[in-house]
Amino acid sequence: MIMACRRQIPEAGEKVKELSGSESIEMRYLDLSKINIIHDFVDKLQKDNINPDVTILNAASAAPRSRKTESGQDELFLVNYFSNFILVNLLLKRELIHPDTEKQPRIIFISSDSHRGSSAIDYNEFGRYFTYGVSKAISNYSYFKLVLNTFATELSRRINKDKTNVQVNAICPGPVNSNIIRETPFLIRIALRAIFSIIFRSPKKAAQPVIYMACSNDFLNRTNEYMHMFIPKRMDKKVYDESEGARLWQESLKLWKKLDKNAIEPVFNQ
Ligand SMILES: NC(=O)c1ccc[n+]([C@@H]2O[C@H](COP(=O)([O-])OP(=O)(O)OC[C@H]3O[C@@H](n4cnc5c(N)ncnc54)[C@H](OP(=O)(O)O)[C@@H]3O)[C@@H](O)[C@H]2O)c1
Repeated sequence: MIMACRRQIPEAGEKVKELSGSESIEMRYLDLSKINIIHDFVDKLQKDNINPDVTILNAASAAPRSRKTESGQDELFLVNYFSNFILVNLLLKRELIHPDTEKQPRIIFISSDSHRGSSAIDYNEFGRYFTYGVSKAISNYSYFKLVLNTFATELSRRINKDKTNVQVNAICPGPVNSNIIRETPFLIRIALRAIFSIIFRSPKKAAQPVIYMACSNDFLNRTNEYMHMFIPKRMDKKVYDESEGARLWQESLKLWKKLDKNAIEPVFNQ
């Protein structure tokens, strides 16, 4: 197992080794707010001949305000959506994730049911940086989950035209007592921590449906599925709009080529 993280290397991996009793755990540096680091990460996987069976895209920022990244986009846009587009397309292009009906590699996007409240994708704002505060940050968090789910659906449509070659699924772990509120103002954070610890699920419990989606044979030949915890559900109907999916792909690719001299032509560009 490779834990791709930006911090706590190697401490977090050592802890997982200790808790799991497995030595087959390695940590690698990946900061999804830095496009060059995503390239470095994929280069190193290729150099080491690593073909992930299951790729779980878990990271998300819950920044309480806009924050400009080195490449000029907002952090929420880059970390919560766009880095996923870049990373997955690089992994497919380098054949590290190779479409295969026998082995069926899995790509799992950790999403949120909050995507349902979001309005349609706004291409005037797409990838553009502007400043905003806490209320827009909260709505953007849900909005980028809508964008992420639309991408997951489009990716599955492109890879799995008439059979499942790669299982591309998304899941909401439900309300989790995680560290997601770390940047909330102090007094609100104290109140939320108390509520989270009573009402929200532990990370251990929240991980169970993700592990099920990652490992179970129940998912063979199943793609573009969505679960809210263990409950299979349809995503918001906007997510399944084919013209929206195609437009999101084209706009993402256009932006990638504009920002990044090492952008590639995706394998599944049709
Ligand atoms: N908590 C909930 O109630 C809830 C509900 C629905 C869905 N989710 C989803 O569950 C997933 C995990 O969230 P969580 O609740 O566990 O929150 P969390 O404790 O804040 O975890 C978010 C993870 O993303 C990582 N991350 C953030 N920015 C990154 C970057 N630039 N590069 C690499 N990694 C980065 C963080 O790394 P650092 O430790 O380095 O900051 C952290 O490990 C997210 O996709 C979230 O949207 C959570």
